[in-house]
Amino acid sequence: MMTIAKIIRLIIPLYAIITLLPSCYYDKEETLYPFKACDTTNVTYSQTVAPIIATNCNTCHSGQNPTGKINLDSWPSLTVSVNNGKLVPAIEHTGPFPMPQGGSKLSDCDISRIKKWISNGAPDN
Ligand code: HEC
Repeated sequence: MMTIAKIIRLIIPLYAIITLLPSCYYDKEETLYPFKACDTTNVTYSQTVAPIIATNCNTCHSGQNPTGKINLDSWPSLTVSVNNGKLVPAIEHTGPFPMPQGGSKLSDCDISRIKKWISNGAPDN
């Protein structure tokens, strides 16, 4: 017969293993919190899109002499690449120049946010 104490001594380490082990496996926010949906409401140029571009693209595509003569660091210049249809294939890696060049693809959520902004008409907001 198992005493209550024996059962508890068995359950506690099991519980610890089950809860602690998976925490080491994942480092991406989306994997860690699979039920935290990507928030694409209230997407704006200034609050959403510009910071993503600044972090991931401006090292090459900004200033007086941008790489490939493609400037993305302001609304008027970014919308040139939106309107000529090159921005989305670049960030989705479906076009001839996957971006950011030499870096890892933007997160699915950041890509969704940029596409939401574009489908809203890419406003200067
Ligand atoms: C390390 C430098 C670098 C970074 C960072 C970078 N790019 Fe580029 N980008 C390039 C180069 C080089 C080209 C190709 C220019 C050419 O040969 O015409 C290019 C081309 C492009 C093009 C034109 C693609 C086409 O079909 O003609 C777009 C749009 C673009 N980049 C967007 C981005 C975006 C958006 C980001 C950030 C997510 C980004 N780039 C980050 C270097 C970079």
